[in-house]
Amino acid sequence: MTASYWSPESWRARPALHQPAWPDPAERDRAVKSLRDLPPLVFAGEARSLTEHLGRVAAGEAFLLQAGDCAESFDSSADSIRDRLRVILQMAIVLTYSGGMPVVKVGRIAGQFAKPRSSPTETVGDTELPSFLGHMVNDIGFTDAERAHDPNRLLTAYHRAASTLNLLRAFTRGGYADLARVSNWNREFVASSPAGQRYSAMADEIDRALRFMTACGITGAVAPQIQEVELYTSHEALVLDYEEALTRQDSLTGQWYDCSAHMLWVGERTRQLDGAHVEFLRGVLNPLGCKIGPTAGVDEVLGICEALNPDRTPGRLTLITRLGASRVGDLLPPLLAAVRDEGHAVAWVCDPMHGNTYTSATGRKTRHFDDVVTEITGFFAAHEQAGTWPGGVHVELTGDAVTECLGGSDQIGDDDLDQAYETMCDPRLNGRQSVDLAFQVAELLQSRR
Ligand code: PEP
Ligand code: CO
Repeated sequence: MTASYWSPESWRARPALHQPAWPDPAERDRAVKSLRDLPPLVFAGEARSLTEHLGRVAAGEAFLLQAGDCAESFDSSADSIRDRLRVILQMAIVLTYSGGMPVVKVGRIAGQFAKPRSSPTETVGDTELPSFLGHMVNDIGFTDAERAHDPNRLLTAYHRAASTLNLLRAFTRGGYADLARVSNWNREFVASSPAGQRYSAMADEIDRALRFMTACGITGAVAPQIQEVELYTSHEALVLDYEEALTRQDSLTGQWYDCSAHMLWVGERTRQLDGAHVEFLRGVLNPLGCKIGPTAGVDEVLGICEALNPDRTPGRLTLITRLGASRVGDLLPPLLAAVRDEGHAVAWVCDPMHGNTYTSATGRKTRHFDDVVTEITGFFAAHEQAGTWPGGVHVELTGDAVTECLGGSDQIGDDDLDQAYETMCDPRLNGRQSVDLAFQVAELLQSRR
């Protein structure tokens, strides 16, 4: 593809799917103008350092953990945000320690407020209302007023993202993420769950190693990574009014960055090569992701690589495959071979959630832990065969004690789903299932080393 004119608004000339239908254009313009005047949430230099880290993932030298809520809520409490961070850090420490790899940590957090939906409307009884599109657009309650698309929510999304990010920066830099606290993160798991006991044993080993390091003079003063964690943010770049308004020119390089998050991805439903989302994202210098579902053919995937990473910069593009446990073995190998043979330096990541969603016997949208593990296992096997690097996992989780996904060491069954089914969108792994999963992935990682 030849490099063609791009500007933060050039996407407006392309078909933009899954955009809100703001009822009043003047109100939308006012909200967007206010957003434009607000400071960036993240900085270009941070996005560049994430690209470098992801370059190491593309090169097979690191592993990406991208995780967080399916749809973040404007009402998340500080405790809920902290608990989500805790589960991400627990998974990361398991992957680092048991898997033996540097782990790049990226949250689906501080901006994951917009959702594409399979149907624009939802019907309950005789009432048909617009679907819930995420707190950036409307509310989940089933009334006209709550489901109306309200552009002032763009501003609330910005402020919620800013306060979440502030909390995350404080926790990751202010002692909470200190390796000496690895065992504290585990308190509520230990007693009852096998994953918790396994985690506890690992935490004891880390404590012993830290005492040894301290005795040798390797403390936080000389090795700050013992006390601090680098956590980057990401979300699906869906509502382009929002993303455009937060796109700023870096004063150092003159290049454009979407300063709403460090990493942005384009979803399965909006990745058309001639569509608005690909047009928008190709012009911002942030590291990008693209979801790859079962309908994506080889030509389409190569087209995405060309469009989003024509310079073949390692770390610029992460392909997030979500093919389903039963289909990954057939669908992934041709994609890996084609991308490898064309010499595209992408990071490959497995989203084992979105290809494995189904409706349970009790009518709940759910996923089974075993399918999640099976898809990741198939992902590792396909990479082993192709001689490529299985670069990471992308999962939906929460630190809250929910019962939304089946299985795991607590053996959540159909009849348990109603106990704590709280998600606003897709079913998420709870803390125990997430730590369980990290141990399983760590074993797969060990087998590749
Ligand atoms: C998601 O990540 O929540 C999502 C909607 O995924 P996908 O675009 O892969 O369906
Ligand atoms: Co989801």
